[in-house]
Amino acid sequence: MPVDILVGTQWGDEGKGKLIDVLTRDVDMVVRFQGGNNAGHTVEIGDEHYVLHLVPSGIFRPNVVNVIGNGLVVDVLGLVEEMKGIAAKGFSIDNIRLSNRAQLIFEYHKRADALKESNAGTRKIGTTKRGIGPAYADKMNRTGIRGIDLKNPIRLEEQFRAEAERYNKMFAEHNIAPLNIDEEWALVREAAAFLSPYVCDTVYLVNDAIKAGKNVLCEGAQAALLDIDHGTYPFVTSSNTVSGGACTGAGIAPQKIRDTWGVIKAYTTRVGEGPFPTELFDENGETLRKIGHEFGATTGRPRRCGWFDAVASRYACMVDGVNKLAVTKLDVLDQFEQIGVCVAYEINGRVTKEFPASAEELAAVKPVLEWLPGWKEDISAVTSYDKLPENAKKYLARIAELVDSELAIISVGPRRDQTFEV
Ligand code: GDP
Ligand code: IMO
Ligand code: MG
Repeated sequence: MPVDILVGTQWGDEGKGKLIDVLTRDVDMVVRFQGGNNAGHTVEIGDEHYVLHLVPSGIFRPNVVNVIGNGLVVDVLGLVEEMKGIAAKGFSIDNIRLSNRAQLIFEYHKRADALKESNAGTRKIGTTKRGIGPAYADKMNRTGIRGIDLKNPIRLEEQFRAEAERYNKMFAEHNIAPLNIDEEWALVREAAAFLSPYVCDTVYLVNDAIKAGKNVLCEGAQAALLDIDHGTYPFVTSSNTVSGGACTGAGIAPQKIRDTWGVIKAYTTRVGEGPFPTELFDENGETLRKIGHEFGATTGRPRRCGWFDAVASRYACMVDGVNKLAVTKLDVLDQFEQIGVCVAYEINGRVTKEFPASAEELAAVKPVLEWLPGWKEDISAVTSYDKLPENAKKYLARIAELVDSELAIISVGPRRDQTFEV
């Protein structure tokens, strides 16, 4: 069975884009199944550095079909801009397909996102302000506009104007400037004409590929701890980011799935608000941010940094059913004398290895740290597992043991060639 899924096991930015690009060497189709342009997936090829938001990370390999699946919320203007940017860099965009069932994001969703955040006080999530939450809310309210509507300008205009007016009423109640619907529609009409040829029934496309024995790789965005059900609610995104999301978000039956790759950054980062038990506010946190270049690929915000949290990632690996671990950014730990790993949480004097459902409880836990010796040498040029320093191997083995999964790939730098199998 040829379908594999790759997902993040922390709070996002684990290096999923890099790994998808590496793995698509042997893949025919890459499918995004949730989220939207809140994602920022970096791929480095040679000296060039590309950040993808909606377009799957298989785009730099000729002949790979890149599917934007039904589970996404797609910023119409954002996608056009991203596709044109990729084409301008000399890559073909002919192999992109957009699901006729995907939900669409318009300007009013972004404004509603910003408005909700500015009124949220201590419940502020620190969203990417890309309109993700409002677009998924419209989907569930059954008022959303979908990919299929891009092919019918008359119907699209009718729906767009009705929705924009509904949002304008809401903006007026909050003393926010209304959207100029005519101006916005002109932009949307042009974008719809550009995107229309790429829209198709991707559920048949994906399933026909599976039936024909093609290799399909599903590309997760965000990560398990930001999942709407399993993450640190309410400080989460609005979609099912866990591997199960690939079934609903791409239209793939569960028995078709072979491997689930779980991507683990060798330490932990988080962007936006919400609990983060191993967060470091000291020099070590600063060092991780500096050496790891931990600034958001989408919003440029500095990422919060901390030690690896095995309790949180073990929960993620369990829900995701991870059977192959890919550990990234191991090189960022090169300089540390000793490295902390959180192996349990202490809550009111009680020690647990379970990840609490309550964000308040998680915010109050004390991480129980185990200290592992560092390796104090540059590993960014290492090309095989055997050549890693012993302490690096011990660190990896301990992480794998703690999250109860098998090591499969190690990444020691952002480039394709800085990757090897275990
Ligand atoms: P994604 O959202 O999971 O695709 O991850 P991002 O692209 O947002 O963030 C990962 C960052 O780390 C990017 O800048 C990558 O180029 C970089 N990166 C990926 N793997 C490695 C690695 O093994 N070592 C180092 N130093 N950087 C890496
Ligand atoms: P990739 O795919 C890291 C975070 C935001 C915020 C929360 C909700 O690059 O790993 P949203 O805009 O989705 O409503 O914001 O989720 N967030 C991410 N953090 N990486 C991402 O994507 C993220 N996408 C959303 O910072 O805390
Ligand atoms: Mg990212």
